[in-house]
Amino acid sequence: MLSGKRLLLIVSGGIAAYKTPDLVRRLRGQGAEVRVVMTPAAAEFVTPLSLASVSGHRVYQDLFSLTDEAEMGHIELSRAADLVVVAPASADLLAKLAHGLANDLASTLLLATDKEVLAAPAMNLRMWQHPATQDNLARLKARGLQVVGPDEGEMACGEYGPGRMAEPDAIVAAVEDYFNAPRPLAGLKALVTSGPTHEPIDPVRYIANRSSGRQGHAIAAALAHRGAAVTLVTGPVQLPDPQGVQTLHVESADEMLQACRNALPVDVAVCAAAVSDWRASEQAEQKIKKDGTSPPALQLSENPDILAQLSKAGTERPGLVIGFAAETRDVAAQATAKRERKGCDWILANDVSAESGTFGGPDNSIILIDAAGREDWPRISKEEVAERLAARIAQTLDRTPVEEHRMPDRLQDGQQQ
Ligand code: CTP
Repeated sequence: MLSGKRLLLIVSGGIAAYKTPDLVRRLRGQGAEVRVVMTPAAAEFVTPLSLASVSGHRVYQDLFSLTDEAEMGHIELSRAADLVVVAPASADLLAKLAHGLANDLASTLLLATDKEVLAAPAMNLRMWQHPATQDNLARLKARGLQVVGPDEGEMACGEYGPGRMAEPDAIVAAVEDYFNAPRPLAGLKALVTSGPTHEPIDPVRYIANRSSGRQGHAIAAALAHRGAAVTLVTGPVQLPDPQGVQTLHVESADEMLQACRNALPVDVAVCAAAVSDWRASEQAEQKIKKDGTSPPALQLSENPDILAQLSKAGTERPGLVIGFAAETRDVAAQATAKRERKGCDWILANDVSAESGTFGGPDNSIILIDAAGREDWPRISKEEVAERLAARIAQTLDRTPVEEHRMPDRLQDGQQQ
């Protein structure tokens, strides 16, 4: 099942590390090639010699080892892998990965890799249940980390609960699932906008809105997970860049538009950014000071509409253009009119009234409107909205690459009128 697959197995410190020789044996039994990296703590629970014997390769432990670097540099270790597996994944290693620490070989590899990571957490149940661990995990999952386990059961410390590492055969099954997962968007390019934009008033002040970027980032991750090559253009957000996604950071609507134009041509564009509709007509070069009289009047100019521009991009128009409609009343009717006005193919209408809790919150209720009518989705998390949307995109697009998606120019001109 895993013939020809190259795995990088990172073993961190925990009693479950004693199961890793068995895991390596099973992975190799399915045809995988396994290279092993250990943290110093892991070597307290399982010897490098056992893992070298079962993997058939030397085991890497030291970031600064001249001999290791000469044989296979640490960047090469992850470059040469098809998937990175972390088993057991300790609370400490998950925390390092969540926060971008890189102070040993394992954490450095995890930070430097552009490959997907599958983690099998294992730790004491209180460590597992601690909000710090759960926060780290949520952050990592949002970034695309795949997780198997932990199982519930009796722990080495005598307690009972969740925290036991998934059994080796369950980890092997998760690795197989990863490689067998359909990649319906492989070979296709996607562009996603996310987050708010910041429109400067003077060097210290700006106009913005409450967008968290969660929805757009989740969509970028879901499309990448299905094999698309994704460019995410994001305004300022407090979120990590999703794994496996080319992420471009911008501030203003103008910068976002430019970055989107540069990313064309693409097969699908999803505009999830809450672009500021207006910017200050003139940006003061110095901080505007109070002068004790009346407050300054702010003259506003309209920003470019990125969704409308992408929808009307002539020969550069993505095969499928999708927008959001943030509405506070008459949601479906407003969104239907917005779809027509902007010229996009689908619009995902959401209620952003204060009482809905959508803006900045974890959930979203969507009404999807396309040429055929409306589809009401239940209130689900923004990650689930992203999965559902990515699946619908995959169903709609065939695997034809960008060039062949385009309609003949004549037809497109007609469509724009
Ligand atoms: N959008 C955009 N560029 C803008 C404004 C909006 O790309 N300058 C996109 C958003 O990413 C979203 C869609 O247009 O996909 C609708 O955004 P929304 O804020 O609902 O609509 P507005 O165009 O701002 O219209 P209004 O404020 O009048 O409701």
